[in-house]
Amino acid sequence: MKSAAVSKSSTLDRVLVLEMVRVTEAAAVAASKLIGRGDEKAADHAAVEAMRKAFDELYMDGTVVIGEGERDEAPMLYIGEKVGGAPGKGPKIDIALDPLEGTTITAMAGPNALAVLAAAEAGCLLNAPDTYMDKLAVGPGYPEGIISLEKSVTENVTAVAEAKGVKPADITVCVLDRPRHADIIAELRSLGCGIHMISDGDVAGVIAVTDPETGIDLYMGQGGAPEGVLAAAALRCVGGQFNGRLVFRNEDEKARARKWGIEEKDFDRVYKLEELAKGDCIFAATGVTSGSLLEGVKVRRDGTMTTESVVMRASSGTVRWIKGEHRLG
Ligand code: FBP
Repeated sequence: MKSAAVSKSSTLDRVLVLEMVRVTEAAAVAASKLIGRGDEKAADHAAVEAMRKAFDELYMDGTVVIGEGERDEAPMLYIGEKVGGAPGKGPKIDIALDPLEGTTITAMAGPNALAVLAAAEAGCLLNAPDTYMDKLAVGPGYPEGIISLEKSVTENVTAVAEAKGVKPADITVCVLDRPRHADIIAELRSLGCGIHMISDGDVAGVIAVTDPETGIDLYMGQGGAPEGVLAAAALRCVGGQFNGRLVFRNEDEKARARKWGIEEKDFDRVYKLEELAKGDCIFAATGVTSGSLLEGVKVRRDGTMTTESVVMRASSGTVRWIKGEHRLG
């Protein structure tokens, strides 16, 4: 699938694109040892440490723009941290990452936990604060602007149903199972839509709209803003439309946003794909537990571990699925 034309001559070296998978693989393998162990923190910590180490192997001068939190909250992969093995020499790259997207899922051995990152030329990823974001996504093949966060649930569902040539009741929407989504769910039920409810992991939830095999037409609801940027980077590569609007619960969250360069005038803004992840960008993910996007890490009887990953690039629209076998001594 081709995305909007983007210059191919970018800082994102072709080799680096494939190398990004090593980084998500390392995080997924490390986190997999904690699947079903009921310890979210330990799973997250293992993924963070492994991802941090794997970055050092890459020839790049990277900066974390979306990470594990601010410097005083996170010992590693904090916002602003330099990563990569060639500081001051290698290509300058901004990284948005979530070493373990789905900490609870991993602890409970649920579906769709991922190790995930997006990389782009410096200044191309929105430095999303750790707030919520209203999200709305649809897969590729629809007229531009068919969905909008300015419209109601009914208007969005009806527009997609009309374009698809089906009734609103034939539309399936993925929603995070949270009390805050009661109104969305009630409106979808009144339309007779199918609701694919997920317990966690809205990066995979948003990406699911791009894969006809999931049967999911739309993604709706509020989740983490950093996860919104990660999902947007993936949609930039495979196509589809996305609307995101930051949601602030208090003044502290607004202050964080200002700190990372988001101006007051943009607090209510509806961001589209290219405003969240512009220029050339890469999205890479490895499955920790199996789900709609990827198989999780498996351990064979001889101790070999297998992984499944995907890496995509916006400038070429290339999507590569990579199976790995890891012999860990
Ligand atoms: P974590 O991996 O940080 O636990 O995030 C999981 C997740 O489900 C995200 O996919 C989603 O964006 C966010 O949490 C939703 O937040 P909340 O659990 O507060 O509703």
